[in-house]
Formats: sequence, C-alpha cells, structure tokens
Amino acid sequence: MSTETTNALASPEELVGRLVESAAGAMEIVSIYAGEKLGWYSSLVNDGPATPVELAARTATNERYAREWLEQQATAGFLTFTQDASGVNRFAMPPGYEAVLHDRQSELFVAPLGRFLVSAVANAGSALAAYRSGGGVPWEAFGEDMRTAQSDFNRPFFTNSLVPGYLSQIAEVHDALSAPGARVAEIGPGGGWAAIAVATAYPEARVDAFDLDHASVALARHNVAEAGLGDRVTVHHRDAGDPAIAGEFDLVCAFECIHDLSDPVSVLGTMRRLAKPGAPVVVMDERVAEEFGAVGDLFERLFYGFSLGVCLLDGMSAPKSAATGTVMRPSTLRGYARDAGFADIEILPLEHDMFCFYRLVH
Ligand SMILES: C[S@@+](CC[C@H](N)C(=O)[O-])C[C@H]1O[C@@H](n2cnc3c(N)ncnc32)[C@H](O)[C@@H]1O
Repeated sequence: MSTETTNALASPEELVGRLVESAAGAMEIVSIYAGEKLGWYSSLVNDGPATPVELAARTATNERYAREWLEQQATAGFLTFTQDASGVNRFAMPPGYEAVLHDRQSELFVAPLGRFLVSAVANAGSALAAYRSGGGVPWEAFGEDMRTAQSDFNRPFFTNSLVPGYLSQIAEVHDALSAPGARVAEIGPGGGWAAIAVATAYPEARVDAFDLDHASVALARHNVAEAGLGDRVTVHHRDAGDPAIAGEFDLVCAFECIHDLSDPVSVLGTMRRLAKPGAPVVVMDERVAEEFGAVGDLFERLFYGFSLGVCLLDGMSAPKSAATGTVMRPSTLRGYARDAGFADIEILPLEHDMFCFYRLVH
C-alpha cells in the first residue's frame, strides 16, 4: 500500500512566489557576506552613518559598489537612510541591528550565514561531481569561510548559554564538572568555543578536545590561548575514531559534529571508552523530527539544504561512510550508539529551536 503525501505549496504560482522570495533572500545573504568581509558593517557600527563616498573612503573600497550595496541594504530593510538637502543619502545601522550583523558575542548574530552560503556555493562543482560519483567534499576543502562561519555561528550560544542553560541543567553533568580535578573530553571542537565555555564556567575542570582538521585545531588553540586557558584546555590533532585515544573522563561530549562524521560508530566507541564508568556522555546535534515527512518546518528545510551543500558531502568524503547528513534522526543516532556499545540514547528535556541534547546511556 502506498501513501500519498500532501504538499503545502498548493499551486505552481505559489511555488514561483516562494522561489522568487528565496532567490531574493539568497542574494541578500550573499550581500551580508560582502558587508562582513569588506568591513562595511564594522564601519557603520564603529564610525557611524555614512554616504557611499564616506563608506568607500573609510574601507578602501570602490564608491560605486559601496553605493549599490548601501542602497541594496536599505531596500532589503537592513539599513536606514536619510537624505540631505542636496539629495545625498546617508545610511545607518538601525538600533539593535548590530547584534545581528556585527556583534560576534550576540546570540542574534547570524551574519556567518553569508560565509556558509558563499563557501557552499563556491564548492558547487565539487558537490555535483560527488552527487554523480558517490564521493564527497572534505570539511577542510570548504576552507576558511566555512570553518570560521561554523565557529562564529555557534560561539555566542556556547559562550552565553551552553553551560548555564544546558550542561549545568543536567544534574549528573553539573556534579561531574563541579568535582575537583574534573576531566572533560570533547570530540570535534571546531573553533573551541564550547571547551572554552566549559573551562571558564568550571575553574577546576580540564578539557581535552580532539579534532581531525588541522586548521580547526589551529583556530581552537588560538582561541584557547586568547581566553587564557592554555593550561586547562588542550586541543589534540587527532581522528576521534582512532582506537588508540585513551583516557578517563568525567564528561564526554560532542557538539554539532556527530552527523558530519564519516564513521560515527568508531567515534562513539571512543566516547564510550573515554567515559569513566557511569560518566555522562552527551551529544548535541540538530533538532529534527522523529521521521521524514514533507513538507518540513523552517529548520528542517535549512538542515536539508546544509546537508546537500556541506554536511553530507563532508561525511561522504571518506571511504566506507555512514553517509548520515545534517538531518540525523534520533533513531539513526540510537542505531550508531548501540553499534558502539551503548545501551540506548535518551533525549534530554532541554529546549532549543535548532539543537537537541542527547545522553548516551551505558
Ligand atoms: C560542524 S563542525 C562543529 C565544530 C564545533 N563543535 C561547533 O559546534 O562549532 C564539525 C567538526 O568535527 C570535526 N571532525 C570531523 N570528523 C572528525 C573526526 N573523525 N575526529 C575528530 N574531529 C572530527 C571537524 O574537523 C569539525 O571541526
């Protein structure tokens, strides 16, 4: 028996409208890339409102392009403008918008979406080749824009909320981290902001983080040193699936990386091995529905887009990949966890629009 699914986009005209809107949105995200990379947002925030001539002079950019960008930003509703008596427009960042477009500490900061999109599109040729061959595109091939977008996108959440809103709310995690000499292992730290947040919140804790990507390790080590935590946070350049990784840890965790792994079972096996008997093992990954079902909500649409453009390609870049993709359903993680020797997984009652927290049960 087959079941036909209904589609929320009822008519072809509705689909056209949706796609034109998406195209405008995509181009606006690309314009955010320019605003970040050329220092146009920084200048508007730090030096104040500007005419195109002023913005171009301040940022060593071309006046004609600066004007086009400023007008485009105002048309999109990202900037405001006032016109003087001679007809010259001066553009400004509306109050509060710097949190979205400029302030790397703000949880509203989504400007890295520009780097994500541009980096994914820049690799579209490799993606098409992979779709044909069954190969992939490794994380490092996406380059600096992708790496820093990932790090900067999650940084405010890790810095401001990960510990007070999430980890410390899990009683056994809070107890483990509060004990003198607590040791934490983190898999796939990227830019290192989660490790920094944990070590900052728990001054007795020591963190060992394991990342496969050389450039991410360098970035994390830099951020750890800048945070003054070099004595308690160690970033290892290792494949976390390596069975030689040893240690005894009071908390083992992985944030937004299990779905990217080509061999999640080996890595979960490492996580199980590194945890002291009974120690909590926590995975944060994308919050998705239990089962596939078109039409998905906004986040599931976003996750499938990222999967096609980044995560599935990354996961499939190694031979014998589990080929997970960004939309890792709880049942998929449960299967990996059981294959790695865990008894089960438990979804923790912690609210977040994008992320789901799992405890892997010994
Ligand atoms: C999507 S990023 C997430 C980084 C960070 N946890 C965050 O949330 O911003 C995934 C990270 O996992 C790392 N990674 C992928 N496969 C790995 C492996 N086998 N061992 C260790 N790290 C790995 C990548 O290099 C990358 O830094």
